[in-house]
Amino acid sequence: MLKINKINQYYKESHTLRDLSLEIKEAKCTCIMGRNGVGKTTLMKTIMGLLPIKNGELIYNNQNIARLSSDKRANLAIGYVPQGREIFSQLSVKENLEIGLLGNRNNLKTISSKIYELFPILKDMLRRKGGDLSGGQQQQLSIARALCIQPKLLILDEPTEGIQPNIVQQIGEVIDHLTKEEKITIILVEQKLPFARKHGDTFFILNRGCVVNSGEMSQLDDEMINQHMSV
Ligand SMILES: Nc1ncnc2c1ncn2[C@@H]1O[C@H](COP(=O)(O)OP(=O)(O)OP(=O)(O)O)[C@@H](O)[C@H]1O
Ligand SMILES: [Mg+2]
Repeated sequence: MLKINKINQYYKESHTLRDLSLEIKEAKCTCIMGRNGVGKTTLMKTIMGLLPIKNGELIYNNQNIARLSSDKRANLAIGYVPQGREIFSQLSVKENLEIGLLGNRNNLKTISSKIYELFPILKDMLRRKGGDLSGGQQQQLSIARALCIQPKLLILDEPTEGIQPNIVQQIGEVIDHLTKEEKITIILVEQKLPFARKHGDTFFILNRGCVVNSGEMSQLDDEMINQHMSV
């Protein structure tokens, strides 16, 4: 689905992603793990085309997308839920979802009923301003907005950060549904170990912009966790 080959990324002189390589398998949930500041969000932004890379390849379904604009990548059905949600707080829930629709490559004009099946709370809140929702509801809105483009690859950057437990559980159920029933590929940046273990199929641990461990989720052991995660 997505193969990242030896990418290097810099913030001015600061070399942040270093010869980073990894592979994302179709219809699986791949967790990107590691402590604060190791480069997880930077990696997601480079996949989305929001940050340029100096060199390396991003091979998405046999096409190198490394030089494509972020709009073109969205047209290739890559959806993105940024860390911190970034919903429009002054716009209504419905308007936020309609912004997602603008990126729909199939010219879909109405919000699919599936979105409301996954997030029933949003249907009750369509006229509310985004900013009036709780943090967890905003996170659900941000995921719903990304689903409006009908992604084949969905990037979720720390979707459970600062969210109340009942909504964390609902987000987990949505992740399972999307991968297992809808065969959507998910990249999940996650620092909460139980959540990653429950919903992830494979993992990559980053440290200082490199992959330092990877494998099937069942292979994630205490030594890796103690060495590379904040628990
Ligand atoms: N816009 C920027 N300009 C310069 N340096 C940046 C910028 N954004 C991030 N960095 C630095 O790049 C490194 C990687 O940051 P990044 O946000 O990718 O980490 P992260 O793994 O997502 O961390 P967290 O778990 O806190 O979200 C950090 O040292 C950070 O300070
Ligand atoms: Mg981050």
